Amino acid sequence: MRKAKSRLVLAALLTMCAAPLTALAHECPPGFPDEPAISKHMEQLDIASGALSFDAIGDHGKALFVARFNVCDGQGRPATTSGGDKRAVDEPAKLRTSAPDSDACAGCHAQPRAGGAGDFVANVFVLAQTLDPTTFSVAPELSDERNTLGMNGSGPIEMLAREMTVDLQSQVAGLPDGNHTLTTKGVAFDVMISDGQVVASRGVNTDLIIRPFHQAGVVISLREFTDNAFNHHHGIQAEERFDLNPAKGFDADYDEDGVHRELTVGDVTAVTVWQAPLGVPRRVISKDNDERQMARRGERVFDDVGCTSCHKPELLLESRLLVEPNPFNPPPRVATRTSVRNTPTI
Ligand code: HEC
Ligand code: HEC
Repeated sequence: MRKAKSRLVLAALLTMCAAPLTALAHECPPGFPDEPAISKHMEQLDIASGALSFDAIGDHGKALFVARFNVCDGQGRPATTSGGDKRAVDEPAKLRTSAPDSDACAGCHAQPRAGGAGDFVANVFVLAQTLDPTTFSVAPELSDERNTLGMNGSGPIEMLAREMTVDLQSQVAGLPDGNHTLTTKGVAFDVMISDGQVVASRGVNTDLIIRPFHQAGVVISLREFTDNAFNHHHGIQAEERFDLNPAKGFDADYDEDGVHRELTVGDVTAVTVWQAPLGVPRRVISKDNDERQMARRGERVFDDVGCTSCHKPELLLESRLLVEPNPFNPPPRVATRTSVRNTPTI
């Protein structure tokens, strides 16, 4: 398959100007014989003000991706489930299948290098967390074992989805009520419109936002995935996802492990913009003439039998710019519920 232009230019969204270069650092519990894997965190203000170079942001993103977190960083989540809800009962929070399951993102995403794919042993039991905190079985009816994929090409994938979303949403404006087929980048989606609103759809949710991540296509952006993965795999909470409590500002400790601001907004920006431009996988053209001919024949057969009706040979980006964050990201979850773990039982 031919690939769309692979180089992606990164741009951080400059929303704020004041730039206090005050780096947050966590401390270990008194007497704990270790130190945090991440010695300094990054503030979004310092990214947005332009005080930090892209290289510095990317280096910090990689450091977060390969860091082997420990309790000093806030690893573990006594009060949250893998899905990010408050844990209702006081049961052991550490279980390999429903996660936390590893110390580092790169513990799984490691082949051929950090950000890449994973060994069989790094398979994830997706949905096992629906039985969180105690999972008794990894039978297919209860969970879905998946191999770790590489993030190579994930930035262009996110931008393709964004361009398709903008296109689909703009097509709906002014359409009469009834059934319509909307096409973007050669992919068709059926929608039903009533009173100017999309009330039913096929292939995309009624909000017409393309969600390119997860096997089932349910996550909008690398940033959203990253926030979920840090909580799920490591028990590290992104403040933008968990601690944005109007009553407490950015100072909540949603998972109640005693570590505040485990992952700053700037940290998430850094680890996202590090993942986005990882090289796009390319087709290797054989030097051998016979092999090249066989591949060409295979390409024709692939098309003739209809594989390309779903596996599009190419999806072209209009722009090579990746602007972070994705405007279609879900709003942060506001942590208003208090934990019921310590509620006295009657
Ligand atoms: C225990 C292994 C494991 C760990 C640890 C892990 N991942 Fe993953 N990751 C996976 C698997 C498996 C998938 C595929 C999930 C699916 O398709 O449902 C995945 C998918 C992803 C994707 C989606 C990529 C795409 O193109 O669809 C992103 C982004 C991602 N991981 C980021 C992270 C980050 C960031 C961390 C660390 C906070 C992390 N992962 C830690 C196993 C892991
Ligand atoms: C109706 C749409 C559709 C058609 C037609 C289709 N596929 Fe797929 N294919 C998919 C989807 C969706 C996936 C991803 C499934 C998943 O991740 O669970 C997939 C996955 C694959 C994969 C695994 C890719 C990977 O990276 O793991 C291969 C190989 C594949 N298809 C080959 C083919 C071939 C060959 C044909 C034609 C004979 C074909 N497909 C026709 C939808 C389709």
